[in-house]
Amino acid sequence: MLILDSIAEALATQGWSVVKSFVPPDLLRELGDEALALLRTGTLRQAGIGTGQRARVDPEVRGDRTLWLDPSTATRAQRDCLDALEALQHTLNRELQLGLFDFEGHFAAYPTGSFYRRHRDQQVGASARVLSCVLYLNHAWRAEDGGQLRLYLEPSGAEIYRDVLPEGGTLVCFLSERFWHEVLPATRLRLSLTGWFRQRAVV
Ligand code: OGA
Ligand code: MN
Repeated sequence: MLILDSIAEALATQGWSVVKSFVPPDLLRELGDEALALLRTGTLRQAGIGTGQRARVDPEVRGDRTLWLDPSTATRAQRDCLDALEALQHTLNRELQLGLFDFEGHFAAYPTGSFYRRHRDQQVGASARVLSCVLYLNHAWRAEDGGQLRLYLEPSGAEIYRDVLPEGGTLVCFLSERFWHEVLPATRLRLSLTGWFRQRAVV
């Protein structure tokens, strides 16, 4: 499939990729409706930072609310989306030998004004998360709405970045270990399905 090959190509050359229309419009709308319903019923929970004993909630670092997807109870729309990501996983393993082995993902909602400060998705010393993927679920997002994903292109974290608008259907992928990034505040609710392909942990 062309779109999967173009993601593989971009990851091979630059370590990150942005494509539009990763899933069909109907599926996108269903996923957006589900995320919104989960937010409204209070099923999405304030996301934390850190792990183990140092895990805590701090809206000054991270203001999104999330719910992990469970493949065994996934709705049809969630299943279709996980299938599309699995097809991507196979292409990347075939073309780039990334050894991606499973996927952990969640719905995320950033209420108006919330953000996620600059970070990387891999904890120091942990090697399981290889590729970060974000599929945006918003309709008709405009630049004035804010909420960009700011992806720092230099591993050093230097101020060279690419801003990605969280427009529905856009899929961003980047190597989890390499890229610093942040979510800028938005003037409206910002929805996504975000996840990580992992390698088998080395023990
Ligand atoms: C994350 C993250 C980016 C985005 O959840 O770790 O960086 O654009 N999300 O939502
Ligand atoms: Mn992140």
